[in-house]
Amino acid sequence: MFITFEGPDGSGKSTIIKRVFEKLSKEGYQIVLTREPGGTPIAEKIRDIILDNANQELDARTEALLYAASRRQHLVEKIWPALKEGKIVLCDRFLDSSLAYQGGGRSLGIQNVLNVNLFATENTYPDLTLFFDISPELGLKRVNQDKKRVADRLDNENENFHDKVYEAFKKIVDDNQNRIVTIDASKSIEEVTENAYQIIKEKLNGLR
Ligand code: TYD
Repeated sequence: MFITFEGPDGSGKSTIIKRVFEKLSKEGYQIVLTREPGGTPIAEKIRDIILDNANQELDARTEALLYAASRRQHLVEKIWPALKEGKIVLCDRFLDSSLAYQGGGRSLGIQNVLNVNLFATENTYPDLTLFFDISPELGLKRVNQDKKRVADRLDNENENFHDKVYEAFKKIVDDNQNRIVTIDASKSIEEVTENAYQIIKEKLNGLR
């Protein structure tokens, strides 16, 4: 079972995914918790290039290709082997982030970015995707309030970019209703965690 967590910056999904991972692990499930961009040493190196604030000249298509490259390496080294062993993989961001950020935010087009990614992923889609729905305004407010967080190259994009990312996410959710479930991420961390956990349990129990 391959499950991805998606949403705008500041949606809280990275905190939620850890809590859900701990809850399910305690119940005895074999789970791999991972994230994108990154997840393996090579993919993390690609991540560093993408998110480095010094790389202001990075071209939008180069950026899309780097995300796809890091995704492929992550699949080959970590995700596919874990799925083969029958483990549950929980991944913080995956394909839909590229469709929303590069397809929408960078205006490359969702379909163009999908094409590049399907080459990289050999058509691997998650079995279930949770979309943590939060307005770009509230998301960015949370990011700015988080004193520990150092803003990366994408966090530092302007509001218009984040609005376009959000619009694209909404369209992707609409077009993939069989795979993506929306969760209201404006609620408390406890409520959102419980919600995410319940949806995943239903999927694991074959009720979804
Ligand atoms: P991440 O570390 O998940 O940031 P956050 O903690 O805000 O969730 O991801 C870093 C940034 O990379 C984030 O702004 C989203 C962006 N991103 C893309 O633009 N395309 C992608 O394919 C992925 C996976 C992430």
